[in-house]
Amino acid sequence: MHAIARLPFLLLLFHLHGLSDAAAAAGGHGQFIYNGFTGAGLDLDGMAVVEPDGKLMLTNVTSQLKGHAFHPAPLRFDDGASASASAQNRTLRSFSTTFVFAIVSDYVTVSGNGLAFFVAPSKNLSAASPSQFLGLFNSENNGNATNHVFAVELDTILNPEFRDINSNHVGVDVNGLVSLAAEPAGYYADDDTGAFRNLSLFSGDAMQAWVDYDGGAAVLNVTLAPVESPKPKKPLISVAADLSAVVNDTAYVGLSSSTGPFHTRHYVLGWSFALDGAAPVLDYAELPRMPRVVTKRRSKALDVVLPVAMPLLALAVLACVSFLAWRRFRYAELREEWEVEFGPHRFAYKDLFHAAEGFDSKHLLGVGGFGRVYKGVLPASKTEVAVKVVSHDARQGMKQFVAEVVSIGRLRHRNVVQLLGYCRRKGELLLVYDYMPNGSLDRWLYDHGTPPLRWEQRLRAIRGVAAGLLYLHEDWEQVVIHRDIKASNVLLDGEMNARLGDFGLARLYERGAGPQSTHVVGTMGYLAPELAHTRRVTPATDVFAFGSFVLEVACGRRPIERGRRGDDDDGRFVLVDWVLELWHTGALADAADARLCGEYPAEEAELVLKLGLLCSHPVPAARPSMRQVVQYLDGDAPLPEPPASYQSFTALAMMQNQGFDSYAASYPSSSATVTSGGAMSSVHSGGR
Ligand SMILES: *[C@@H]1O[C@H](CO)[C@@H](O)[C@H](O)[C@H]1NC(C)=O
Ligand SMILES: *[C@@H]1O[C@H](CO)[C@@H](O)[C@H](O)[C@H]1NC(C)=O
Ligand SMILES: *[C@@H]1O[C@H](CO)[C@@H](O)[C@H](O)[C@H]1NC(C)=O
Ligand SMILES: *[C@@H]1O[C@H](CO)[C@@H](O)[C@H](O)[C@H]1NC(C)=O
Ligand SMILES: *[C@@H]1O[C@H](CO)[C@@H](O)[C@H](O)[C@H]1NC(C)=O
Ligand SMILES: *[C@@H]1O[C@H](CO)[C@@H](O)[C@H](O)[C@H]1NC(C)=O
Ligand SMILES: *[C@@H]1O[C@H](CO)[C@@H](O)[C@H](O)[C@H]1NC(C)=O
Repeated sequence: MHAIARLPFLLLLFHLHGLSDAAAAAGGHGQFIYNGFTGAGLDLDGMAVVEPDGKLMLTNVTSQLKGHAFHPAPLRFDDGASASASAQNRTLRSFSTTFVFAIVSDYVTVSGNGLAFFVAPSKNLSAASPSQFLGLFNSENNGNATNHVFAVELDTILNPEFRDINSNHVGVDVNGLVSLAAEPAGYYADDDTGAFRNLSLFSGDAMQAWVDYDGGAAVLNVTLAPVESPKPKKPLISVAADLSAVVNDTAYVGLSSSTGPFHTRHYVLGWSFALDGAAPVLDYAELPRMPRVVTKRRSKALDVVLPVAMPLLALAVLACVSFLAWRRFRYAELREEWEVEFGPHRFAYKDLFHAAEGFDSKHLLGVGGFGRVYKGVLPASKTEVAVKVVSHDARQGMKQFVAEVVSIGRLRHRNVVQLLGYCRRKGELLLVYDYMPNGSLDRWLYDHGTPPLRWEQRLRAIRGVAAGLLYLHEDWEQVVIHRDIKASNVLLDGEMNARLGDFGLARLYERGAGPQSTHVVGTMGYLAPELAHTRRVTPATDVFAFGSFVLEVACGRRPIERGRRGDDDDGRFVLVDWVLELWHTGALADAADARLCGEYPAEEAELVLKLGLLCSHPVPAARPSMRQVVQYLDGDAPLPEPPASYQSFTALAMMQNQGFDSYAASYPSSSATVTSGGAMSSVHSGGR
């Protein structure tokens, strides 16, 4: 078929910058319409491109990038009348916009992040982050009134940090991503029933959105509908929103999108806008089409060629079969029926094999009891990942574990290492994580090849881990207990943000241990003493490990060391006891790492060390919750003094818990992850 050039109907009326009198606002000024974007002259940045057929593609399948399209000229949102009035008392001109979009995900059940219409004071959004920030905000400025950004988001991911209602919603955002109002995507039928009809934003089908703002009444409406159906009378969202304090006198309008870990393309097919009136109606006949999956009809030519080709085909099949057999052996995976529902989180072994170049030792990041960690680059998306290969034979508990992995994969927090998915082979489980370029915190603390961490960096890491743990314990849909918090499981991303990694694995080993599975897995020195007899992990056992971690980071020493100064009678150095002793002698701040050369505020160091002591209390009830910990660190609540009766950790733990000492003594090193079967050295999911 010949391609017929589609000539988009293009009516582009600029509102000229100099025209500020109210009369100029009447007529066509501040109005535009794009039925397809060929020759539209939009200002594009990031991944955004206009395809030859006129589709605006805001994102391609590259992960963690953003794309913006701006109407090139600024628009005057202030009405002339209020130009002379006080800044607080101004009203904004009414505006109206509509656009047709389609979100195409490579997966059936998940999609990359959504798409947004926005009004912003400048065309420079280079500081905005991709992924959940939709290319509009970043972790620093999210929610700040100085942004002057208004947006309507079509969001396809549930981000608990922004209190999203579900993974398919429309939200009204003022200066940040916590929506002023949000509704599940859909529309109200215009018939007598007025029934609500769901729409799936990332179905790949084209849909139309309308955003109408009434400046006088300060009411904002958002309406959604399948493409080519009339605009529903009842809007999806109608919310009182005074944008006069938000949108600047002169501002730009645009469309934004960004991608996270999932391959998704965001398309816009047409867009119109008007000030002081309804947005011009799009001409559906002129819009570029979304490709449809069509079943190809068999051609006549094939009927002729087929008989000739048959013998050749047979040969080819034979070659293929032997090749496939070889491949099957090489890339063999374990796949069972129950895994179907986890499809999107399942990686093909072949992709991981190629990502890590056949798990070549040059990509090895770490080795330990839980398995080996490799750095890899996924072939399709060029995303850097860390692949952890865990040896595991137990069939039992695997389904539940994978369900957990998938649910953990839905955890999203800036202080938690993102788990992207998994793969299974015989005797092996592969876990795919975001790659952390700065490796584990443990290396920065103890490897003298790295520059010593400054105090602010340590405090930031402690705060980050506290925020991540609070999220796991209290703010996510279910309580997640990490079970193995320690410096080597805290990873640093490119911006030196601390992220918790490696959770859930300890659980697998507990389960896998069979009928006598009362084993506690964790790391000596971070294991709460009550675990010796209760064997039950609780948020308080995580808090204990967090306490050891805090002391470790502040002091630059491991919780339990052997054969070093300050050893107790058994030749063991117990960090908590040493810090307690300094506290009782009034020299608490001296416990801070000598590598800091005294360069830290003494009161901050004391607060952190006392917090470490409180969290390491042998009695679980005496430990604060993670919410309290975060309040103490942020100065939102005063930190209580550790109780005076808290003289020696070892003595108290022994009193409370006969048998703790022998339990502690049987594991030589606090740097190793242990199971009841013996010591295992730890591995991390990041990199060097
Ligand atoms: C996606 O867009 C970015 C930015 O323009 C580009 O670097 C990248 O190669 C594109 N990826 C694909 C798969 O087209
Ligand atoms: C602000 O608006 C109110 C009514 O909306 C009006 O009475 C008042 O005079 C205005 N103030 C200024 C300074 O324009
Ligand atoms: C937008 O308006 C605010 C408040 O009036 C002002 O501080 C800010 O500089 C303006 N931004 C731009 C880019 O003009
Ligand atoms: C865009 O903003 C960033 C900081 O937010 C700044 O560094 C950069 O120079 C700006 N670019 C332009 C072209 O103004
Ligand atoms: C908002 O941003 C301004 C400057 O960009 C900054 O001074 C202020 O502290 C920020 N406020 C909050 C609450 O983050
Ligand atoms: C719309 O979707 C919601 C959530 O998925 C579901 O509970 C509801 O039954 C659906 N409604 C219709 C009419 O399909
Ligand atoms: C917003 O919706 C309400 C309720 O349907 C309607 O009364 C109002 O006229 C709408 N406003 C705009 C600007 O569309």
